Amino acid sequence: MSGDFECDMLIRDALVFDGSGEDPVRADVAVAGDRIVQVGPDLSLSRREAIDASGYALAPGFIDVHTHDDAAAMARDTILPKLSQGVTTVVTGNCGISLGPTPLRRREVPVPPLDLIATAEEYRYESFGDFLDALRLAGPAVNVAPLVGHTVLRARAVDDLTGPASADEIAAMRDDLDAALRQGAIGLSTGLAYPPAKATATDELLALVTDVANAGRLWTTHMRDERTGVVSAVAETIDIARRSGARTLISHHKCCGEAAFGLSRTTLAMIDAARQEIRLDVDVYPYTASSTVLIDSFARDSRTVTVSWSDPHPEMTGRDLKDVAADWGVDPSTALERLTPGGAIYHQMDDDDLERILAWPPSLVGSDGLPRDRRPHPRLWGAFPRVLGRYVRDRSLLTLSSAVAKMTGQTAAVLGLSDRGKIKVGAAADLVLFDPARIRDAANYDTPTAPAEGILRVYVNGRIAFMPDADVTTNTGTVLSA
Ligand code: ZN
Ligand code: CU
Repeated sequence: MSGDFECDMLIRDALVFDGSGEDPVRADVAVAGDRIVQVGPDLSLSRREAIDASGYALAPGFIDVHTHDDAAAMARDTILPKLSQGVTTVVTGNCGISLGPTPLRRREVPVPPLDLIATAEEYRYESFGDFLDALRLAGPAVNVAPLVGHTVLRARAVDDLTGPASADEIAAMRDDLDAALRQGAIGLSTGLAYPPAKATATDELLALVTDVANAGRLWTTHMRDERTGVVSAVAETIDIARRSGARTLISHHKCCGEAAFGLSRTTLAMIDAARQEIRLDVDVYPYTASSTVLIDSFARDSRTVTVSWSDPHPEMTGRDLKDVAADWGVDPSTALERLTPGGAIYHQMDDDDLERILAWPPSLVGSDGLPRDRRPHPRLWGAFPRVLGRYVRDRSLLTLSSAVAKMTGQTAAVLGLSDRGKIKVGAAADLVLFDPARIRDAANYDTPTAPAEGILRVYVNGRIAFMPDADVTTNTGTVLSA
């Protein structure tokens, strides 16, 4: 009887945004197994299931190019913040931090910021491949494209993390990197702004990134400086990208602290010029607050700082750092010290820079959500619908088709995922159906874990993966290892 059907599912009369950035077309989309098999007006195919999508937008499932979902992807409820936004693929291992291989070789606890994504107990994978095997066994609900983190390699190999690595230590990192790339890492991430990687010297960086280039993989970087030094950090990134030959992605591009406001004019001009010769891209999240572990220099450059978690003082979660300091009768730096290990939300950017970077045609959208935080930055639950609601519909900063491309087709091209991020015959059937009139982020700084509104259905590899108010339990994500 299965032979009677020409397709499994027909989504009828949708406004189809194909991920290319072109204007949408009204069409039907047919899915068989895990693939899109036909796209066109008024398809008449026998099918198991038909969905009337008139009045709604259909797009390729969103690719979250910047996540810390290494551990969160293991279970459906911890990846729900992403699924419920229409995300069908997450890139893990960003900012130098990946769940495999374990950084706990010379140290018993993960040094901050490695504690952003996992506890010491969760850092249990001897190799990068062991992490991927565990992920496959768990059966993720979204597709996972995994990076390996430089800070993890550094913590494994380097004795004194506050200094440059020795030749032997660099050799050890290169061995680990080589293994991770062979086991399927799509690239290497660095987190050069963070204490355990700040001392990374050019020779260390160039050696590792050159190995990435030789393997044909991607380098993503949380640059050394995103404050007044952001211009020189971009210059360093371009220099390493050029000398290594690696495809390069600048993570969560931003200008932090009032003294840095407006510098995105300069940085985007530099990146534009460099793009004439090298493959260099940028991702961005649609908020003017950042979030990471507690770092005094970040707090000093912020208008306000909200505690997002604290191991020694969980009761201070959600409170303003200044108020905590006043309660304790100490200065904010001392309070921050006492709250560590912990994390915070730093209000420290300007709308103009954010809008300039988001509207810049090549930029990609990533959430940078922190799934382990007790009171997370709202980007975890809201980044993608916020772009489509606030910045496309409400503020007309960019068109819906270009915003969708920044979440799908453009992203897949940067990642080298040839059969994702597009609605076309033969592509993987990762799809999101949403209402363009209603889509919006409901998560904010007061209610940070509210699911987005206006997302109607999310499909991962041809199977329903999320519907609001429905009990979906199938997990059909795959590990998109290189
Ligand atoms: Zn980062
Ligand atoms: Cu990050």
